[in-house]
Amino acid sequence: MLNLVVLISGGGSNLRALLEATRNPDFPARIVAIGADREAEGFSHAEAFGVPIFTVPFSSYPDRDAWGAALLEAMEPWKADLVVLSGFMRLLPGAVAQALSPHCINTHPAYLPEFPGAHAVRDAIRAGATRSGASVIVVDDGVDTGPILAQERVPVLAGDGEAELHDRIKMVERRLLEQVVRDIAEGTLDLEKVSTP
Ligand code: GAR
Repeated sequence: MLNLVVLISGGGSNLRALLEATRNPDFPARIVAIGADREAEGFSHAEAFGVPIFTVPFSSYPDRDAWGAALLEAMEPWKADLVVLSGFMRLLPGAVAQALSPHCINTHPAYLPEFPGAHAVRDAIRAGATRSGASVIVVDDGVDTGPILAQERVPVLAGDGEAELHDRIKMVERRLLEQVVRDIAEGTLDLEKVSTP
């Protein structure tokens, strides 16, 4: 059984989908704790599934490195096999990315390397893209630059606003994330072999 810690910042709909996947007794991973950099709305899903939460508020630390050290410390007791960033909207300090590497993955609402960063869906619409996508990557110390584990195109439809497109992308993200977690847990995907230096 693969033990996951999931980090969120917002509503956590992708987290919710992963929690639902873990309800299936055949699913080879379980979420042992859910953390956030703020009082995230998505903690309600943790409560619904009886999963412990922890918060490491960015604003409580003098700088990003101090916050990152506290985040590592908060995760340590859970002895996660894999850390999943699921709508976690803070860039991990390099030392944290390296400490977790390669056992930390991130979902992203674009077809990387297109549209990295915190506003991928808005950026795709503003660029007039006719297609965007969803990606699951290994976290390295760049902004959405790690090795791509899975990705799929999602068309941008006429009249799509940010919310409509994001909702359709998230449906794909959930499926990709569930499959990647399953593959890692079952050993058909070896993060050590796709790892960054
Ligand atoms: C997801 O689309 C995720 O890929 C994105 O935030 C959303 C979270 O939705 N993450 C990023 O943009 C990270 N750069 P959720 O809170 O409803 O799961």
